[in-house]
Amino acid sequence: MEEGQSLLINGAAGGVGTLALQLAKLKKCRVTGVDNSAKQEYMTLLGFDTVIDYLEEDFTRSGRQYDLILDTKTTHSPFEYARVLKPGGCYVTVGGFMPQVFLCLLFGKWIAWTQRRNIRVLGLKPNRGLIHFTQLIEAGKILPVIDSRYSLAEVPAAIKHFQSSKHKGKIIVSVTEATAGEP
Ligand SMILES: NC(=O)c1ccc[n+]([C@@H]2O[C@H](COP(=O)([O-])OP(=O)(O)OC[C@H]3O[C@@H](n4cnc5c(N)ncnc54)[C@H](OP(=O)(O)O)[C@@H]3O)[C@@H](O)[C@H]2O)c1
Repeated sequence: MEEGQSLLINGAAGGVGTLALQLAKLKKCRVTGVDNSAKQEYMTLLGFDTVIDYLEEDFTRSGRQYDLILDTKTTHSPFEYARVLKPGGCYVTVGGFMPQVFLCLLFGKWIAWTQRRNIRVLGLKPNRGLIHFTQLIEAGKILPVIDSRYSLAEVPAAIKHFQSSKHKGKIIVSVTEATAGEP
């Protein structure tokens, strides 16, 4: 990510998207977030420059193009993502709808060769840069967005809450005492 680039995050209001937004803002990027309408006000408060309701608008058909796309849902085909990337731009998925993730793996190299757009799948790896991350958090430069906390015994309630899709940011399961759903 380079200073001042444009970034679109698909599935933006969850744990991954809200941290990515803050890292992008440190690089003075313009960030568009795609998520459902119930989260739009909260996303604007968090600092997204533009918010798109995925139920109202298909960003892959908007005609706008981005330097970078970070995807947590992978709801479109790699060809649709390539269409909204600027030449030389990069799309990265970290998870989501597996058949589309598989298509990204299959056609990524072809799209890079024929269209000069990068389509990448980021597999789960051991975390890197944790010291840098800790320094940013301690300096108050990034803030993990915590939706709610649950104790180990309350994991079924935590999963139910996660499945209801109402959470904004991370749901924490704590080994120390916590009251179900408290922020
Ligand atoms: N590869 C890695 O290193 C790595 C690391 C961490 C996480 N992950 C993966 O990343 C993914 C996301 O994690 P997360 O914690 O950020 O998830 P999350 O908290 O569930 O956030 C995803 C967001 O996407 C929204 N959404 C649902 N359907 C959508 C659609 N069609 N278009 C756009 N947005 C949509 C959800 O809202 P509603 O459902 O309320 O509509 C939710 O706000 C998971 O698959 C996880 O396994 C990968």
